Amino acid sequence: MTSHGSFDSNCITLTRFVLAEQRKIPSATGDLTQLLNSIQTAVKAVSSAVRKAGIAKMYGMAGNVNVQGEEVKKLDILSNELFINMLTSSYCTRVLISEENENVIEVTTEKQGKYIVCFDPLDGSSNIDCLVSVGSIFGIYRLPDGVLQPQLKDILQCGRNLVAAGYALYGSATMMVLSIGRGVNGFIYDPAIGEFILTEKNMRIPNRGTIYSINEGYERLWDPAIKQYIHSKKYPSNGKPYGARYVGSMVADVHRTIKYGGIFLYPATVDNPNGKLRLLYECIPMAYIINEAGGKASDGNIDILDIIPKNIHQRSPIILGSTDDVDDVLLCIKNNKN
Ligand code: AHG
Ligand code: MN
Ligand code: MN
Repeated sequence: MTSHGSFDSNCITLTRFVLAEQRKIPSATGDLTQLLNSIQTAVKAVSSAVRKAGIAKMYGMAGNVNVQGEEVKKLDILSNELFINMLTSSYCTRVLISEENENVIEVTTEKQGKYIVCFDPLDGSSNIDCLVSVGSIFGIYRLPDGVLQPQLKDILQCGRNLVAAGYALYGSATMMVLSIGRGVNGFIYDPAIGEFILTEKNMRIPNRGTIYSINEGYERLWDPAIKQYIHSKKYPSNGKPYGARYVGSMVADVHRTIKYGGIFLYPATVDNPNGKLRLLYECIPMAYIINEAGGKASDGNIDILDIIPKNIHQRSPIILGSTDDVDDVLLCIKNNKN
């Protein structure tokens, strides 16, 4: 008996979940647990900032300048600082790659550990000021054994090497979705106890959905195959057309795709032949999670998880979601080549 009215005295928190997973691997040192704890702390703080907690104190009566006369920090900069500070003080990281930093961040000697973390501290920046859902994305790699001074080739690994990946969604609730290579689990943040609680065990994406998600404003700039595919969803030869949903925050669009099924695309355009989204901290971690949930992700030619990045801010077209829907797009691309 663990449930008393609305209270569960034995709920599975994210920390408890990760500790239990760690126990299954006898050689595990606990470093990954510590690292994931630091990410949890960063996410809690970002969530609080996104929800404008403490806004009165920040602004006083002064508009967008706070009571001390300083400009209120932009949320993406604040989120980046939170991620960097929490990650480095976990004593488990060696190299950090952030969307917000042009260069690789090397952790100072006394705080060094064995992990490489790539992250987008706040995804969906165009949605911040209008209070639409935003998120954070991260991917964790291990530094190859025996590497004392990591070079770019040690850092730029393909997605198959990921140790863990996840995202936080700051939506109608704050949620963390995590995979450490054995499926995907979702944890909703309970502000009453300050913990993430396991609410979605072993998340599985449907094999096919009824929703397509793409910025349709750019249709004129797409390849013929993408035009043809989207047209086929709007004007099916039989059955009902697909519905359209596009938040414009990758985390929100991908989370919906996992929950309801369907397809999310950010394809190449005439002016951006590599699309917009970044491999290391957007495409690869999301592809890893989708894959672990039973879906798939491709750049149109190969699986996103097989791409070896050549530079840290490299972009890639991406097509991800329900297996059957992704396969339909790939078939369309193939047919257009012939
Ligand atoms: P970020 O805010 O981290 O720069 O990422 C924004 C991304 C992504 O979240 C979203 O899928 C995409 O930009 C939307 O781009 P468009 O406005 O071109 O559709
Ligand atoms: Mn982003
Ligand atoms: Mn961002």
